[in-house]
Order: sequence, then C-alpha cells, then structure tokens
Amino acid sequence: MPSNQPQTIYLSDYKVPAYLVDTADLRFELFEDGARVHSTLAFRRNPDCQESQETGAPLQLHGDSLKLESLVLNGEAVATSNYSVSDELLTVNQVPQHFTLQVVTWIEPQNNTRLEGLYKSAAMFCTQCEAEGFRCITYFPDRPDVMARFSTRIEADKTAYPVLLSNGNPVEQGDLSDGRHFVTWEDPFPKPAYLFALVAGDLLEKQDSFTTMSGRKVDLRMYVEPRNSEKCEYALDSLKRAMAWDEQTYGREYDLDIFMIVAVDDFNMGAMENKGLNIFNSSCVLASQETATDMAFERIESIVAHEYFHNWSGNRVTCRDWFQLSLKEGFTVFRDTQFSGDMGSATVKRIESATVLRTAQFAEDAGPMAHSVRPASYMEITNFYTLTIYVKGAEVVRMIHTLLGPDLFRKGSDLYFERHDGQAVTTDDFVKAMEDASGRDLGQFRLWYEQAGTPQLAISDEYDESAGVYHLHIKQTLPDTPGQTDKQPQHIPFALGLLGSRGEALALALSAEELAKADAPQERVLELTEASHSFEFHGLSERPVPSLLRHFSAPVRVSYPWTREQLLFLMNHDSDGFNRWDAGQRLAIDVIQQMIGAPKDVTVDARLVGAFRHLISDADLDQALVAKMLVLPTVAYLAELTDGADVPAIHRARRRVLKHLAIALRDELVACYRRNIDSGPYQLGPEAVARRSLRNTALAWLLLINDEEGRSLGLGQYRDADNMTDRMGALKAFVNSGYDDDRAASLNDFYQTFQHDPQVVEQWFSVQAASRRTGQLSHIHALLEHPAFDWKNPNKIRAVIGAFAGQNLVNFHNPDGSGYQFLADQVCKLDDSNPQIAARLVSPLTRWRKFAPEYSQQMQAALMQIRDKENLSGDLYEVVYKSLAD
Ligand code: BES
Ligand code: ZN
Repeated sequence: MPSNQPQTIYLSDYKVPAYLVDTADLRFELFEDGARVHSTLAFRRNPDCQESQETGAPLQLHGDSLKLESLVLNGEAVATSNYSVSDELLTVNQVPQHFTLQVVTWIEPQNNTRLEGLYKSAAMFCTQCEAEGFRCITYFPDRPDVMARFSTRIEADKTAYPVLLSNGNPVEQGDLSDGRHFVTWEDPFPKPAYLFALVAGDLLEKQDSFTTMSGRKVDLRMYVEPRNSEKCEYALDSLKRAMAWDEQTYGREYDLDIFMIVAVDDFNMGAMENKGLNIFNSSCVLASQETATDMAFERIESIVAHEYFHNWSGNRVTCRDWFQLSLKEGFTVFRDTQFSGDMGSATVKRIESATVLRTAQFAEDAGPMAHSVRPASYMEITNFYTLTIYVKGAEVVRMIHTLLGPDLFRKGSDLYFERHDGQAVTTDDFVKAMEDASGRDLGQFRLWYEQAGTPQLAISDEYDESAGVYHLHIKQTLPDTPGQTDKQPQHIPFALGLLGSRGEALALALSAEELAKADAPQERVLELTEASHSFEFHGLSERPVPSLLRHFSAPVRVSYPWTREQLLFLMNHDSDGFNRWDAGQRLAIDVIQQMIGAPKDVTVDARLVGAFRHLISDADLDQALVAKMLVLPTVAYLAELTDGADVPAIHRARRRVLKHLAIALRDELVACYRRNIDSGPYQLGPEAVARRSLRNTALAWLLLINDEEGRSLGLGQYRDADNMTDRMGALKAFVNSGYDDDRAASLNDFYQTFQHDPQVVEQWFSVQAASRRTGQLSHIHALLEHPAFDWKNPNKIRAVIGAFAGQNLVNFHNPDGSGYQFLADQVCKLDDSNPQIAARLVSPLTRWRKFAPEYSQQMQAALMQIRDKENLSGDLYEVVYKSLAD
C-alpha cells in the first residue's frame, strides 16, 4: 500500500461552502527563480450554510505545493495558534462574519513539471487551473461553487515578458524599477478559480474583431511565439464562425470587450476555456497549409469553437461540483459537434462521433473504470475527464434534442441559460429546464446520467404475409458495471425506417388506423422505455429491410441477424447516410471476422469486392461519404467487438481482406487516384478534402500491395505536395509499405525539411510509432532517444508512447509481452514528473479483461509492476487499483 493513497470523494457528501469569496485581488511577482503571489480575499459566511451561520465553522482553504510566507486577517497577522497548515489545507480556526484575508505564497513555476497551476512553457509563464490547479498558486476555496470577482496585477521583467495577460479587461499598466513593468486586469464576471488564467511572455499579437448581434465590437487577439506568426489565420476565422453560430443557433453572444487565445507548446490537454483568455495546446490551434493536415484543420475548428462555446455552457453557467462535469463538457461537445456538422457534412461528422463512441467509449464502459455520465464517486478528478463524461455526455444531450425536437430544445436551453446565469448548477438543473420548457417528462431519461454501461438492444422481426404486418421486437438490457448491478431500462429514442425491395422508403403505420389515414411518416423515432417492446407496421405487401437506429439515435449496441444481402442492399439504398456507412462497416466486420484464423483457401466474399468497386468507381456518389465508407473498421474496433481478443490474429485477418481488395481493385484504385488529382490552387472545402482523402486511401492500398505504379504516384505526390495532407498521406503510405528504401528516404527528408517545427515533428514521431513496420520496440526506443524527443512535453510523449500503445495495436500486443512491459516502464518514469499524463497513458493496459488469457495475464503483470512502484501518484493509484480490482 502506498502511503499517499488518495481519498474517495462522494457526490452524496456534497455540502454548500461555509464561506464565500466576493473579491479576489491577486498580485503576481514573476522571477526566474520563482514567483510571489499576494492574494487579498474578501470573505463572508455563506447564508445558505447552517453550520457556519450558527457555530462559525473554521475556514478551510485548499493548497498544494505552496510555501506560505504570510497570513494577515483584517490587517493583523494571524496568530500561529489560530491556524494550521497541512499538505492539502490551510485552516484558520476562528474567523469573523466578514473579513479580508491576505495571503502571500511562494511558488516555483520553473520547476513545475505537472503543468498544473502556474508553470513555464519554454520562455513563457502560463497557467492551467482546471480542475484543481488554482490551489497550486495560492490558498483558496478551490471548488467551482465558490465564485469571485478577480483582479490580477502581474509584475515581470519588461524585456523578457513584454506581454502580460489575465482574464477580463486591462485597466492599468506602467513601468517599475529594475526594468520591470506591470499590467492590471479586471474581470467583471464572478467566476470559479478554475477559470483563472495568467500568461506572461514575449509574444506576437494577431488582431481581428467581431461585431456581435447587438452591435458591440469585440477585439479578438491571438498570442503566439513570433515563429508562429503565419499559423493563426485559421483559428481566428474559426473563432468568428463559432461566435456567429452561437448567436444564430442558441441566441448567445459574447460578453466581454476582448477575447484572447494563447498558444503554448507544453500543455496537458487540448485547450482550456479560461474566461476571456483561452489557452491552447499549440497543436490544437496553430496551422498552415504546409504544416497541418485536413484532419488537424477540422480539429482546430472544433476545439476553438468548443472552448468559445464554454463561455456560456461552462463559464456563465458553471458546475456546482466536479461530479457535474458533463454539465459543461457533454453539453459543449454536443454544441461543437452540431457546429462542425453545420460547417461541413452533418453525416460525416456523425460518422466520426459514432466511431469514437463505439471504439473507445464503449470500451471504457465495458472496462474497470466504467462510470456514469454523472459519477457517484472519484479519487482524482483529473481521471474523470473521460470519453464517458465527454462523448456519452454529448450523446445524452443529443437524445434530449431528438426527443424534444429543435424548437423545444432551444426553448429549453434559453430557459436553462436565463434561469441559471451566474450560477453553479447540476446536470439535474439542466434536465429540469428542458422538462419545464417542453412539458415533457424526463424522469426515466435521467437514468442516462446515473447508470453506467452501454445498453444493448437485441432485435428480431417477422413478417406476416397474409396480414401485411411486419413485427419488430426490441429487448433492452444494461450490463453490470463496477458497483452497479440490476439496472433499470432506460428511455431510448430509436430512429428507424423500412425499405421496400426496390430500395424505396416505406410508410411506417404503427396501427391499422394510422394506415387508414394514409399519412404515416417514412422515418420514426420510437421511444423505448421497457425491457421489451414489440411494434407492428401495417400495410406492407412484402417483407421490408429495416434500417435500424438511424443516425445512431442513441449510444447503444444493436444486434440483429442481418444477412450480407441485406447489408449490401442498405449500403446502396438507405436514405440515411449514416446507416449506409454503418451497413458497409457491418459487412466488412462480418467478412474480417470470418477470416480470423481461417485456412488459406477461404476467400474474401466477392460481394464485398463488388461493393467496394462500386464505391471507388462511381464518381456520382457523395465523395465525402465514400471516403469514409472506404475505411475498414479498425483493429481497435474489431477487438472491442470480440471477447477474448487475439489482436495479432485480428490484424492478420484485416490485412488479408485489405490486400485482397487492393489486388482485386488495383485498376480502379489507380483510376480513382488519377481522377482525384487536384490541379488548381489548394482549397480547404469539403470537396477538396474528400478528394485528398480518397486519393490517399487509394495510394495507401496500392502501396500495401507493392504496386509499382502506386509507388511512382506516391513518390511524385510526396515530392510535389503543396500541403501537409498530401505530404503526410504519401509519407504514411511509404512508412506502411514494403518499400524500405523509400520509407527511409521519405522519413529522412521529412525530418530534414520540418525539424524546426514542433507540430510537424510530433506528426513525424507518431506516424512511425503508429506503424506496424516502424513501430517495433527497438524503433520506439530509438525515437525516445531522438534529440527532438522531450520528456517534459506531453505532445511528444503522446506522439510516441501514446501512439504506440493506442494505435499500434499489433505491436503493442506482441505475444511476448514486451509492449506491455515497455508501457509500464514509461508510465512509471512519467509518474514522477507528470502524473496526469501517466494516468492517461496507462489506459490501454486497463482493458486487460478483453483479451485472450495469454495476453491478459501479461497485461495484469504490467499493471502490478506499476502498482508496486515507489511513490505512486494518486492519479495512477486510482486507475491501477481499480483496474486490478475484481
Ligand atoms: N475544460 C477542458 C480542458 C481541461 C480538461 C482542463 C481537463 C483541465 C482538465 C476543455 O474545455 C476541453 O474539454 N478540452 C478538450 C478538447 C475538446 C474539443 C473536447 C481537450 O483538451 O482535449
Ligand atoms: Zn470542454
């Protein structure tokens, strides 16, 4: 047992804060050997807290790794007998009703490798305070239901740190002695400490502006290191699109006069929504045609929007406690997904969301860390920034949208924002606003927030020819998860359609009366509330083909005995683009699964080849959808679908199918490649993106079978590329090909060309770490020794170690266990410098129950090795102990 075993925190123990903070006036003195933080806090007893009203509870402030220099209450030093300091708390025993507390702390940002609180990234100072980082800066009631008005005075050397930023508006600035200067910022909006931010550095400023719907002009400013001057445009444009979209779609406008974005290289997460001063991981905000792929552009647009949208869903209305995290994250992911769908193709965006959910969130739900969208307990809150909170949470909001329809949903969100503006609230308050605005009862629906696990729908059907009635039976079950058994049925919106034999959409009459009225719709959302339902569809002259769970209307697993003929039919005819894609995926899964361990003479179903030939050759199809349909289900998803998975065997089966397709369709692939060559200038629109994607898929397939024409196309594409999507597409194809010399040459050239750009070097690392060919352990070790690798930079760690364990499944699951051992070693090493990152990286090992015994035993052994590490952090403790528990 490690000595620092973290405490479990329970939602049921929630108590309102005993003291509130009206104002927090901070003064930072920044030096090279540390920083002094002067904090002046105006406290008063919370009228809603009985205990503090009656007995005058002690004042407890959070603190972490702080050196307390002085403590003054209402102008007088606090007597040592009246306070105590522990590792986590500063307690003042006797305090009056109202008082001002002045606290001075000394911290060492230059030595802060956890990247929580105030730290240095390269030459600049920056902060990350969510969830509990503010306590690493000064003593404070660091919980989101304590909201204060902040002012921040920053003092620093003027030459090294000409730019000094914090939340709100700048109100004063001036020079000090010794070449130092100061700037004071005031944020008029009360906020929790997790939204505090400070930045100091020698940064370049990019200016833009946006006029809100009420006619206010907002200054938009982006701050980057001077070398990134040409990489800001796309983020600023995305920001303006997001601001306009939130006005149109939710009626929400921005509320300060300045909105700032800062890019930093060392950052644990993607980005952070600090009030008026969003801080971004460079990789999630900086982009140019030459350095960023289409996928990176897409990601930047959605993250910029996401953090901006938090200004309402998160900042104006925030979380009461961290159990409510999905209140802001689930809702905001829902909002950014809607936005991205509106900016491009909603169907393609839906496919991407569903893929993440089914591949990774379902795996989380089926693993040892499974938890509900509103968890009941946690040890380390940073471990709960999970796919369940984010993407399942977004699905839950999306289901409310589906059940209410867009107009009532908008009424509900208006009511939510109006009712709770300036408050710290719960997911239940959100659902209540939706109920009150719509008049719908969401009582049973609330179970989506409480019950963990992925619901399973077992579907069967029969057709009664004489009556012309089609019967559909749906049974719902919810598997047990750690600490939760015997669950209740949930309220599931289930969208469906029925197709006739010519592919036409049939009317869905649920009764003879509906049939008589002759106005039945062609798509319906059935509402499942019971463990089992049977539906009848009347007036059908032949057996229909069902199109089930259209647009993935709920985050559930569906089983239905599809025949391959039905899947081929849906691929070609379903009016729902999502289900066209899904049918193709299911067909491919069926074919690949049949190949696992199959003898040599078993061949790939010719119908799959035919279906792919059609996709590749018919230029009249929606090319963006085709680009998605050509991507075979990943090994990760195939493994998720399998109990006792043997990853190398799955990988071999998938490759066999892929190679068979590539050989059979070789000429069509070349034609598709040539048809999609771009002649004009570079464009970022959906059509151009689809063309590049199709061409890169064709190239990858051709190189997989060592096609000589493919090779010369690839070499030309690499050489002539005027953008990163093309260049990376060619590089990736060579890295995964059998052309050893071309692989080495292109990797070398790529590094020589881009070695001065960290965002591109990250891509160079990860393409190698993720590849079956370059991702063997000896290569991975060499990457860790490479001069550009940096153990202090989370992006580099993710690009090598994260990509290896998370994407290179066939090498990670080497039967000799070396992949697991490697991850355990790196995780232990990282735990001492950055425990948050260590706890995130370990997650592939936590899935050990999924795999065949020879794998799972070795995975457990690796986890035990981590468990026995000295000075195990609380972050890693929670993940490792929960994973090993029965
Ligand atoms: N509030 C989070 C950032 C955060 C997460 C800070 C965890 C501290 C701990 C931010 O809004 C966020 O969710 N960022 C995501 C990207 C987003 C597009 C889903 C991230 O950082 O990955
Ligand atoms: Zn967020």
